[in-house]
Amino acid sequence: MNLSGRRVVLGVSGGIAAYKVCTLARRLTEAGAAVDVVLTTAAAEFIRPLTFEALTKRPVATSLWERGRALAHIDLARDPDLIVVAPATAHLLARAAQGLADDLLTSLLLAATTPVLVVPGMNDEMFAHAATQQNIQTLRERGWTVVGPAIGPLAEGPSDRPGRMVEPEEILAHVERALRAPGSPLSGRNVLVTAGATREHLDPVRVITNPASGRQGYALAEAAFARGAEVTLVSGPSTLPTPTGVELVRVETTEQLLSAVERLLPQADVLVMAVAPADFRPAEPGAAKRPRSEGPLSVKLEPTPDVLERTLAKRRSGCVAVGFALEIGDGIERARQKLEAKQLDFIVLNRADEPGSGFEQETNRVTLVSPDDARELPMQPKREVAEQVLDEVERRL
Ligand code: CTP
Repeated sequence: MNLSGRRVVLGVSGGIAAYKVCTLARRLTEAGAAVDVVLTTAAAEFIRPLTFEALTKRPVATSLWERGRALAHIDLARDPDLIVVAPATAHLLARAAQGLADDLLTSLLLAATTPVLVVPGMNDEMFAHAATQQNIQTLRERGWTVVGPAIGPLAEGPSDRPGRMVEPEEILAHVERALRAPGSPLSGRNVLVTAGATREHLDPVRVITNPASGRQGYALAEAAFARGAEVTLVSGPSTLPTPTGVELVRVETTEQLLSAVERLLPQADVLVMAVAPADFRPAEPGAAKRPRSEGPLSVKLEPTPDVLERTLAKRRSGCVAVGFALEIGDGIERARQKLEAKQLDFIVLNRADEPGSGFEQETNRVTLVSPDDARELPMQPKREVAEQVLDEVERRL
């Protein structure tokens, strides 16, 4: 994530989750953002300003009445790219909704004209209270983005209702989206990504599949969310965490993948088909687990449906469709044949025989193949590959 040149005001109010916001301040700073932290008096009871000063390498403001910083709230409100309030307590939300300006943070919220992202974190009863719900509604209507809260344990004990502040990594994904979406042609577009491998049952406990891990597809979904897209990720079985803000649809077989894509494609502005479907399935899957002692097993396999061939006709006009191809050796010509046969805009060509690239790796070296061009990208993390694939999509939108 590259946030260099961006300025973020990070307002912290007095909830126990303030300790987690230190990680957020650090990650934003590492990403290159200039982070100005403003603590309420209550927040400073939980975390000392010095902690944030050390993490952001910038002065931390806590009071309207600090000598020598008489107009700090106006200075701080002047042109940040984004204001984030995390955690936002029930009290802070109430004051902001009322338009009160009785301390530095609420004054700057009133003076600022930049987008605001609030991340509530509080006791679950306090969150459920009608007053808090109404305040959140008011802030949303004013155009503020509200992220969370999540359901999970609170400092005071277990809970099965919303209240807990979402994790710093999730906040970070929303911050990146808030900062990047306004400049991206993908903002507000529906992006459908497929990922992982499908699998076909030989019998109730045995499957045929391939080693695709889903990492490249998940990275694409993450990167599309960061650009402001509404992202649906159709994934074969995978243990990867669901990317923040992305709607996950789980499938197992190629037939299920086909029905999911058939259902979702007509709404999509972009389709990125990163999934590696199982290309064959048993013609007659066994109904019971066959003991090994019965000796050799012969299975007749039949090809699974070609999802792209069966669905692409249903795409909207102007929908950009991207395929993936895994080839051994050069493969550009074969990729071009697939491009034409499947009516794709371009293909991301992976080399299966390249160390550090392809299946189950963190990095990838791909070539973007279109009818008249083949652009080789360097070996890089899959998230970087995703960014470059989406740059290419944006050029074609
Ligand atoms: N694909 C698909 N349905 C399948 C197999 C593949 O939609 N049953 C998609 C993949 O998601 C990928 C593209 O088609 O985006 C190319 O995949 P690939 O496996 O290289 O193509 P195949 O047509 O299966 O070619 P091959 O005969 O080389 O396996």
